Amino acid sequence: MEHSYHGDTIGTMSAGARGVFTEAYDPLLFAVERVPFPAAGKESATFDALETLCRQGDAAAFLVEPLVLGAGGMLMYSPQVLAELHRICVKHGVLFIADEVMTGWGRTGTMFACEQAQVAPDIACYSKGLTGGALPLAVTLCRREIFQAHYATDRRRTFFHSSSFTANPIACAAALANLNIWETEPVRERILALTALQADHLIRFRDDARFDNVRQTGTITAMDLKADDPGYLSKLGPSLQKGFREARVLLRPLGNTIYVLPPYCVTRDDLDVVYEAIAAAAALV
Ligand SMILES: Cc1ncc(COP(=O)(O)O)c(C=O)c1O
Repeated sequence: MEHSYHGDTIGTMSAGARGVFTEAYDPLLFAVERVPFPAAGKESATFDALETLCRQGDAAAFLVEPLVLGAGGMLMYSPQVLAELHRICVKHGVLFIADEVMTGWGRTGTMFACEQAQVAPDIACYSKGLTGGALPLAVTLCRREIFQAHYATDRRRTFFHSSSFTANPIACAAALANLNIWETEPVRERILALTALQADHLIRFRDDARFDNVRQTGTITAMDLKADDPGYLSKLGPSLQKGFREARVLLRPLGNTIYVLPPYCVTRDDLDVVYEAIAAAAALV
């Protein structure tokens, strides 16, 4: 999908948005077909493009960040759109891959973003929140028939690819501890409380003419500071960052897009400081 980000390997850079991040690797990257981002009011262009590509009959899979495109600018779309994208893939027998690396584990208000669209992906990628963000671990889940297609008793057909730290025991222990918290503590209630707090903080920015596209999905908020040069390389980015650092707040704007993606242990007071810093930094630039 246009503006998507899936990582920094050759495969994920190939599938993600091309730009200043991927330029150095361009000769190594392979071509993929893309659909436009489903911007509000323009969703049908995305559906039509996906339908056309799926109908050609040679699409292996559709890879998408459900509900929120992270590094591409915290771009948000609705569960209804996600459900329709999935419906088109199912209709044409195209695998649906949900990259929930950023959206998984409560970020969007539900444990997984796909739940809001009642979508069960064929392949799902989880990471960051799997260990509560504490240790590096990722998992890729797939339907049984996909697993079986990669499974063989013939050892020459083993699925060989992994790395030194695959299933690292300490990282797995952290993930199990996190799962235990999800099962035994009121995590969903905390996430809903954080979602409500985040919504309260956005109100003042919605009426502020310096900001555009003030938005929220679950625990994530984002807004664009109006700029002559919008985008990741906007000169507002470094100025904002300087302002945040001086306010002792760790926020990393994506160019002129400011987003707040707090850890779930964030307090009401912490968030007050964060949004004060945003207002102050915006006043300075
Ligand atoms: C949606 C999404 N997919 C993939 C990645 C890359 O994950 P990793 O750094 O584990 O390769 C990220 C990292 O920010 C991400 O936000």
